[in-house]
Amino acid sequence: MTQKLALVTGAARGIGLATTKLFLRDGWNVAMIDRDAPTLAEAAKDLDGARAFVCDVSIPEAVDQLYKDVLEKFGRIDALVNNAGVADFGPIEETTFARWRTVMDTNLDGVFLMSQAAIAALRETRGAIVNIASISGLRASTLRVAYGTSKAAVIHMTKQQAAELGEHGIRANCVCPGPVRTKLAMAVHSPAIIAAYHDAIPLNRYGSEDEIGEVIVFLCGDKASYVTGQVVASDGGFDSTGIGLPDLRD
Ligand SMILES: NC(=O)c1ccc[n+]([C@@H]2O[C@H](COP(=O)([O-])OP(=O)(O)OC[C@H]3O[C@@H](n4cnc5c(N)ncnc54)[C@H](O)[C@@H]3O)[C@@H](O)[C@H]2O)c1
Repeated sequence: MTQKLALVTGAARGIGLATTKLFLRDGWNVAMIDRDAPTLAEAAKDLDGARAFVCDVSIPEAVDQLYKDVLEKFGRIDALVNNAGVADFGPIEETTFARWRTVMDTNLDGVFLMSQAAIAALRETRGAIVNIASISGLRASTLRVAYGTSKAAVIHMTKQQAAELGEHGIRANCVCPGPVRTKLAMAVHSPAIIAAYHDAIPLNRYGSEDEIGEVIVFLCGDKASYVTGQVVASDGGFDSTGIGLPDLRD
């Protein structure tokens, strides 16, 4: 098989589904991975070149089986997009260990497990890893002790991967999305949070799933062949600015 294959986790909806469609537009095949079987099946059913694989990325045995299934079907892996994520916003004192672990299981352990299991196949293709962190991993904010910490760890893990896997020709980069109106964000973004983001973002708006996906697809492809270990915020300028002064704007 000569067509390139991207594995996209959390592909049933949101940023992962948008990214899947952009890969397909560019002529890639896509292994769509998600633990939400019905939503995944519905999302994948009309997508030529995509195939659905149900897997919880936080379970080591499930990840091992997934790679067997993907390689049996496609025979190669050119890019891994670690996009599956969960959000849980709450004060530190109310973040129980169970809530903390739920966030770390998917956001951190899942990225580690999926990346480790991909290395052998990515060596063959001199492929790429793109990890999806968040602006919450770049800048601390209230209510994000678990989510923000998990995403900061993903940013550092990306650099570890770039440092160690570069000699095998494997690139690793990280995308930090700003706010996007997906199911994940809308479950935790109160009206006050939405208003605060609008004030703090120079472009004054939320991003779209495609605006994140385009950056991901670029970093996976040959046009980014000398880019590794980088953290790219697709965030309307949120990370580049300090204190917001909306009253001083036009
Ligand atoms: N939407 C935003 O505002 C925003 C901002 C910054 C970062 N992000 C990050 O972008 C990524 C995608 O988020 P989204 O907004 O599209 O979310 P979403 O909730 O719409 O989609 C996430 C998908 O991941 C799947 N998933 C969750 N845990 C999984 C697991 N353990 N195994 C397999 N699949 C799992 C879910 O079933 C879901 O289909 C996440 O990593 C998120 O943290 C999102």
